[in-house]
Amino acid sequence: MTSPRHFIDLSAVSADDLRFMLDDARARKERLKTGETDRPLAGKVLAMIFDKPSTRTRVSFDVGMRQLGGETIMLTGAEMQLGRSETIADTAKVLSRYVDAIMIRTTSHDRLLELAENATVPVINGLTDDTHPCQIMADIMTYEEHRGSVKDRLFAWTGDGNNVLHSLLEASARFGFRLNIAVPAGSEPQARYVEWARANGGRVTITQSPQEAVRGADCVVTDTWVSMGQEHRARGHNVFQPYQVNEALMRHAKEDALFMHCLPAHRGEEVTDEVIDGPHSVVFDEAENRLHAQKAVLAWCLKP
Ligand code: CP
Ligand code: NVA
Repeated sequence: MTSPRHFIDLSAVSADDLRFMLDDARARKERLKTGETDRPLAGKVLAMIFDKPSTRTRVSFDVGMRQLGGETIMLTGAEMQLGRSETIADTAKVLSRYVDAIMIRTTSHDRLLELAENATVPVINGLTDDTHPCQIMADIMTYEEHRGSVKDRLFAWTGDGNNVLHSLLEASARFGFRLNIAVPAGSEPQARYVEWARANGGRVTITQSPQEAVRGADCVVTDTWVSMGQEHRARGHNVFQPYQVNEALMRHAKEDALFMHCLPAHRGEEVTDEVIDGPHSVVFDEAENRLHAQKAVLAWCLKP
């Protein structure tokens, strides 16, 4: 039996397939607008497991699946036997007998990998402590809608070296854009993501100076200073304050730079109202494109 087509990480999917999905996402977005029928997943069921809260991922996968003709089942780990110590492996085997694909948002990346290893249907990463690939697919789609190809453009990340940054690092290699990272000492991204990106052609710099990272950037990206489930690692906000995206920092970027944030935002912390509600910001386009990008991911995973 051939193994299912999982969507675990951008590093695990070829650049050609990622590009195919983005083209497909654009086409499906267009079809939705023109009202053209687009129901390739009729009769298919997606199980969604959430071990952490979610607004965008939950609603966009649910709506996306319905728009493609399929259905969803919403599960939380705590309400399943998983919460009473049934193993991930057994859960994967059982769910594979019922549904056509599984989307999971969970804590450790190993839980996701174990689920994928034991499932006989595609598994999609809806965020782990380590990565958030669906978010970055939507972000690349959003950048390209506004400004054209990301190739050779300069993205700048400022703030915490977290899961969203890890997927952005993988994307920098897969899509060929440059990435400057500014993080306080002790909040660097995991070395294996930086090393993978560099080994695969990524052009990545890491500094502690947000002004240096943002200088001349085409796109400035940030995220919360405290990710879900990472509260124990939380550092005083004074450590991150210099990394806040405000108008003064945005002035170091290109005049027509975009501002991105995966949301939810902590206004007044990692970003000011002026920036997130201002002319550079495309945060709600990113949120919308979660729907379109994930429809392409679902169609790719479930391609006959
Ligand atoms: N950006 C994102 O994944 O949002 P949710 O946590 O609301 O799903
Ligand atoms: N880094 C954030 C992203 C939320 C979508 C978190 O993991 O909480």
